[in-house]
Amino acid sequence: MNPTTLPMPGKTRSAHETRDRDLFDKIAAAYCRKDLIPACRTARRQRIERTLACVPVGPEISMLEAGCGAGFAATYLDGKYSAYRGEDHSAKLIEYARAHNAGTRASFDVANIKDYNPRRRFDVILMIGVLHHLDEIPLAVRNLIRLLRPGGWLVCNEPQPTNPLIRLARRVRKRIDAQYSNEQIELSAAELRELFTRFGLIDIRTRPQGLFSTPFAEVPMGPQPITRSLAKAACLVDTALESMFGRLLQRVSWNVVAAGQKPANAPWTMGKPPDTQGRVERRAVARATTVHT
Ligand SMILES: C[S@@+](CC[C@H](N)C(=O)[O-])C[C@H]1O[C@@H](n2cnc3c(N)ncnc32)[C@H](O)[C@@H]1O
Repeated sequence: MNPTTLPMPGKTRSAHETRDRDLFDKIAAAYCRKDLIPACRTARRQRIERTLACVPVGPEISMLEAGCGAGFAATYLDGKYSAYRGEDHSAKLIEYARAHNAGTRASFDVANIKDYNPRRRFDVILMIGVLHHLDEIPLAVRNLIRLLRPGGWLVCNEPQPTNPLIRLARRVRKRIDAQYSNEQIELSAAELRELFTRFGLIDIRTRPQGLFSTPFAEVPMGPQPITRSLAKAACLVDTALESMFGRLLQRVSWNVVAAGQKPANAPWTMGKPPDTQGRVERRAVARATTVHT
C-alpha cells in the first residue's frame, strides 16, 4: 500500500495543544526577537548546527522542521539542504517565518505535527525544543517517522532533566516567567532512546548539547557587545568540551540531541503505535495529573 493512503489520526486538537498554540501566538513577537539579538542568535544557531551535525547527511537533503517556530533554522542551515519545509501550529510564528526566513528553497505552513500529512517524504526531520511541549509525544513521533523516506533521519534537540541544578533553574523559570510553559516534560537521553527504539528506528545516537552556551540561547542578556563575545566564547568552549568528553557530559548538559534512522527497507506500517506503554507515556500521564492549567 502507498504510504500516502495511510489512515490519518483524527484532526482533533487537545486542550493542551490549544493552550500551547495560544501561548506561542501570544509571545510570538518576543520569541522572534531572541534570534535577532546577537548573543542569543549566536547560541541558537550553534544549537541547531550541532543538532544537524549528529546525522550523516550531505547538503542535498529535503528537510522538514517540525515545530519550526519563527523559522530561523532555514536561514542558519542555508546551504545544508536542497529543500526545507517548516511547520508550526502557531500562525503568528509562521507569519513571521514566511516574511523573514522563506526563500526559493525554504517554505513554511501552519500545521499540527501530530497529523501533518503532506504528499511528500523527507530525508531529515528536525525538531528543536518541540517534543517536550507535546501531550501526545508518541503520536507525533509516529506521524513524523511516517513522513521520513526509508533511510531518512529523525533528529531532535530536547532539554534534558538529569542535571539537578538545571532542573531547579527550569522549575524556577516555570513559576516566574509567564512566557515559559509550565506544561513541559523534559525527556532524558534514555527515554528518547527507548521511544525511538520502540518505533523501529535504528542507529540511534544521543549526544549532550549545551553547557555554557544554552543560557545565552534562552535569555536575552545585555549589554550586547559584551554578551555577544561571551556567547561566542561559550559556543567555542562547548564545542571543544562536547567533542572531547562526548557522552560523559550527558548528566550535566542542558540539552540532549537524539537521532535515529528509518531502516532502508522499512515497511510503510512502520511507526504503528507500540502496544506497550513506555516511559514517555508514563511521564505524560504523571504530568497530566500534576500540572496546573
Ligand atoms: C520552544 S519552541 C521551539 C521553536 C523553534 N524550533 C526554535 O528552536 O526556535 C516550540 C515550538 O513548537 C511548536 N509546537 C508545539 N506543539 C506543536 C504541534 N503539535 N504542532 C506544531 N507545532 C507545535 C510551538 O508552536 C513552538 O513554536
